[in-house]
Amino acid sequence: MNISTAFAPPFKLIAPFFILAAFVFVISISMLFGFDVQIIHNLDSAVLSWVHLFLLGFVMMIIFGAMAQLVPVVLEVGHFAVDLYYAIYPLLFIGTILMALGFYVYPILLSFGGIIAFIAFSIFLVETFLTILKVKKMNFVILTVIVANSFLLFGLIIGIIMALGYTGIISVDIHSLLKTHVFLVFFGYVGVTIMGMSLILLPMFWLSHDFTWNYVKSALVILSLGIILVSFSTLFDNKIFEYLGYFLSIFAFFLYFYQIYIIYKTRVRVEIDIYFKSMLFSYICLSIALILAIFYLYNPSQELLLTFSWLIFAGYITFVITGHLYKIIPFLVWYERFSPYVGKRKVPMLADLIPQKSSKFQFLLTSIGVTIVALGLFSGVDTIYKSGVSILFIGSIFLVKDILFMINFKEEKNV
Ligand code: HEM
Repeated sequence: MNISTAFAPPFKLIAPFFILAAFVFVISISMLFGFDVQIIHNLDSAVLSWVHLFLLGFVMMIIFGAMAQLVPVVLEVGHFAVDLYYAIYPLLFIGTILMALGFYVYPILLSFGGIIAFIAFSIFLVETFLTILKVKKMNFVILTVIVANSFLLFGLIIGIIMALGYTGIISVDIHSLLKTHVFLVFFGYVGVTIMGMSLILLPMFWLSHDFTWNYVKSALVILSLGIILVSFSTLFDNKIFEYLGYFLSIFAFFLYFYQIYIIYKTRVRVEIDIYFKSMLFSYICLSIALILAIFYLYNPSQELLLTFSWLIFAGYITFVITGHLYKIIPFLVWYERFSPYVGKRKVPMLADLIPQKSSKFQFLLTSIGVTIVALGLFSGVDTIYKSGVSILFIGSIFLVKDILFMINFKEEKNV
């Protein structure tokens, strides 16, 4: 595997990010039992609480853990101060929990939690920018890291301003800032990061070669333009900018999708493993979500908004993450615990570190659960929705179990 390990941080630094994220995933899935799809609205305080618990405590936690490992791979220089990551996960975790409680029950906690999470994000951003300053030769992927992190910075500042408004400390028009916040942090940071990292990770894990990168590169430029337009549209209250921004963002995802198809067509490895299945499911969810998002522009109904958001969060992002975890954790554990003994004594194979049966249950239960919840949200029938959540909840327990199994894989026990 083509991971540069010269500047790799120790696994004990990365593991807590993955473990905390997996527990937050289970907590956020169990929170879904509390919603009634007949009366749910995307701006209910409980929904806002859920969205931030899921996005900060699960998605961002995983991205930051992965970045500790990936930043040196992408930039080809060592971290400026990798030990700063030891401060990021506790601060992000505490900040997220306080924010979730703040949205849900005690608004004052939202500002405190928001500021603590903001400190965690700032440490990440400062460390990343200082690491980038060490780079001698720029390339396209590094540029995407800079763009994504700049979007994150501005989106968070708007988040904090909204949180102070939500708590009642200052007076701002939250509604007009909401779109800018969502576009900058969610599509701007999470979206651009996933697309940018695909440039590195997909060909590595699918062993594809000899294809053009032009589609994803154009997608990244067009998505960034779309995000800037939507952000400015709220400042100038300009509908043309806004809709042009939406159109460009959706078009960018279609280009990205086409790029993935090209990589898929030129892949060398055909093994249908947990990684492959997870990626396939994630891209199916993304394509359905994109089609629903286009319908939403014509008919802005809550059912459509909730269904396509759900498919992006729980279908696309979650499966991109889980699929990669089944690749990345075994590799990191194997590299740290077993690679020094290669050629000296018997060492396990990478595949031995993956719980084969359990990962199949995880995939099956989680994908069926996500699909049934989507049907429940779309139809507005609470019993369909709740049965989906029940299946998904069992799937999430399998995920935690698998992550702990891979992280704790020990030579004495298993070889
Ligand atoms: C310091 C960190 C953050 C703070 C203080 C914050 C604050 C807020 C506030 C106050 C709202 C609600 C506005 C309203 O009442 O209409 C909101 C909405 C939202 N935020 Fe954040 N946010 C933060 C970070 C993030 C991050 C990192 C993401 C994504 C990765 C994110 C995604 C969203 C989304 C998707 C919504 C809309 C939710 C919905 O429509 O249900 N936020 N945020």
